[in-house]
Amino acid sequence: MLTKALVEQFQKLPTPLFFYDLDLLNRTVEAVQTYGTSRGCHIHFALKANNNDRILSIMRDAGFGADCVSGKEVEKALEIGFPPEKVVFAGVGKTDEEIETGLRNNIFSFNCESAQEIEVLNELAKRHGKQAEIAIRINPNVEAKTHKYITTGLQENKFGILSEHLPVLLDRIGEYEQITLTGIHFHIGSQIMDLNTYRELSERINTIQTLFDKKGIEIRHINVGGGLGIDYEQPDRNAIPDFKSYFEVFDRHLKLRENQELHFELGRSIVGQCGSLITRILYTKEGRNTSFAIVDAGMTELIRPALYQAQHRVDAIQNGKPERTYDVVGPICETSDTFRSGISLPELNRGDLLAIRSCGAYGQVMSSDYNLRERAKAYYSDELE
Ligand code: LLP
Repeated sequence: MLTKALVEQFQKLPTPLFFYDLDLLNRTVEAVQTYGTSRGCHIHFALKANNNDRILSIMRDAGFGADCVSGKEVEKALEIGFPPEKVVFAGVGKTDEEIETGLRNNIFSFNCESAQEIEVLNELAKRHGKQAEIAIRINPNVEAKTHKYITTGLQENKFGILSEHLPVLLDRIGEYEQITLTGIHFHIGSQIMDLNTYRELSERINTIQTLFDKKGIEIRHINVGGGLGIDYEQPDRNAIPDFKSYFEVFDRHLKLRENQELHFELGRSIVGQCGSLITRILYTKEGRNTSFAIVDAGMTELIRPALYQAQHRVDAIQNGKPERTYDVVGPICETSDTFRSGISLPELNRGDLLAIRSCGAYGQVMSSDYNLRERAKAYYSDELE
């Protein structure tokens, strides 16, 4: 919410800007610790959601590990001080150089997404005199019931190894001398709101585990990925996701073997709600069917509406003016550069500020300099209050 005190601070700053509420972030982290870590769950923060140093330091200090999907993310995590034994590295297309970065740093697990990747990893590990610990990313064919662009666990998706290919792979895994298979990994998608999906995933994993039992392969850790969604419509009412119910689903339905560790890769659910994109009204004008509020932020700062038809809440300062219907649009020369259509806001004037909410995850990290626009800066609540 835009409080008066904050608005006064924002008025003095160049916009657009990203604002992070660290108090909310800390409370969210505490909820993960209370319902997850204290149950023995291992949390890896997904750097892809937000890789700002301040945010990452908070994740590191919370005792979380890092979930990386590129060599640069692995390097970043280590630079921030995440211990290598808490770093996991996933991705369908790791380059040799990226694999070597992981090997050099003895990371906890390469989450391998194809038989060929395992072969290449074995070769590279041999060349560097290393032993690589891996988890096989398995495609469980579970429907995540989310946007199709962020659905990753269906058979037709590019991610993971199909379960029907597992028996052959497992028969050969012993031949890869530089590889130690320690885990199995899953990630079925992002912005998942229906917790039954995770029950389904747990039940699929139970079945898959019997295959490993039959082959006499001991799996030390199960990584169920991330994906827990946030409430984009009511970011104030549901500022902290229901981690209690989320972790309970796995507790109830996933049958862990003795001494088996359970790992998670959470991104959006931890950082999503703490970030807002603050933007100024440049112009207002009347269209044929609506009034346009043209703001100084665009799809360059937040691409989610253009890419996934995402609806982020837009808040104005409550200034007692009568409400009107607006399309809130950016300055970029594309019609997809629209944040919201047909929403009610108090009458807006040039210079007024808006807060586009729930931008802490996949906001700043996905920004671009399209149209040679400058990157928006980040500000943190403890710098402004
Ligand atoms: N683990 C893996 C292997 C992943 O691919 C992802 C996200 C995560 C964990 C973290 O998922 P989360 O807990 O944040 O849902 N740009 C999209 C989201 C892409 C998610 C990609 N993978 C968006 O803005 O909605």
